[in-house]
Amino acid sequence: MSVDLIDLHPTPDDLQQLVEEGLRKTPRQLPAWLLYDAAGSQLFEEICAQPEYTLTRTEISLLQERAKEIATSLGSGVIVEFGIGNTRKVAPLLQTIQPSAFIALEISRSALENTLQDLDDAHPGINMLGICCDHSNLQSLPTHPWLEGQRRIGFFPGSSLGNFQPKEAVAVLARFRQLLDGGPLLLGLDQPRDPAQLEAAYDDAAGVSAAFARNLLHRLNRDLQGSIEPERFAYRASWQEAQQRIEMALVSRCDQTLQLANTRWHFASGETLITEHSVKYSPQAAAELVAQAGWSIRQRWHDSDDNLSLHCLEPSD
Ligand code: AVJ
Repeated sequence: MSVDLIDLHPTPDDLQQLVEEGLRKTPRQLPAWLLYDAAGSQLFEEICAQPEYTLTRTEISLLQERAKEIATSLGSGVIVEFGIGNTRKVAPLLQTIQPSAFIALEISRSALENTLQDLDDAHPGINMLGICCDHSNLQSLPTHPWLEGQRRIGFFPGSSLGNFQPKEAVAVLARFRQLLDGGPLLLGLDQPRDPAQLEAAYDDAAGVSAAFARNLLHRLNRDLQGSIEPERFAYRASWQEAQQRIEMALVSRCDQTLQLANTRWHFASGETLITEHSVKYSPQAAAELVAQAGWSIRQRWHDSDDNLSLHCLEPSD
């Protein structure tokens, strides 16, 4: 079949302003999506292969093992994935549901083009549509013949929702409900567990997680003519019990002043720059979260350790 792409040009023209806004916060924090330039996306793939980071492998097995049941629960329609992740996640759904089209909403145009091409090679009977956009800010899906009159099945795996704070997460899920227009959503969420295990997952022994966070500094140097020496920052991943989340941060190893574009930023020794949060949802917290966004859980599947779960959600009214 074919591949088509609609580019809504999502990247802010003003990266500098966005970064400066984040650096003025207390504590300083930058949006997580900035981590995913080409090198960052590559490093994230490597994180997924680390022994300590089990999320991706566990979710792929769960999807493969339960594909039939999941497909039955979701019903038929075109599949809409929010963000383009590992192609091995959607593959079992494409095989069992056999939709006429797969639609991926993704902010990175290069990731979108590469992944859709791979998917097209592997699933020649399915039309592949990429929409290059910021899916958390989209009001409606653009019109396209492959979407016309089709029931929509949403797919949001990988616990990507965990990057948002719970309040934003509710808004994102409510937005997806609107975009799916009455169709269901398959949502993958990671759950809280032993903090030591979680901290290791986000700070692996091989140092890939640290390199992933530090790559943000390389990106700032490149895109904003910066003078940062990434090695002057240590990396830290810590479980925050009250917020049920892992906080990932770069910690200044010394007193230093950085130059970015035309502005200088002072970092005291020990001062942090938060790169990302990863919120974990217990089954009860997940049920409350989705209910606030107008969804109810039709069915839930989890791995044998009950560390992560997939939920088939349907609009609650
Ligand atoms: C892509 C947001 C799901 O939170 O587990 C993993 C990102 N960052 N290790 C996660 C991540 C460092 C990941 N998500």
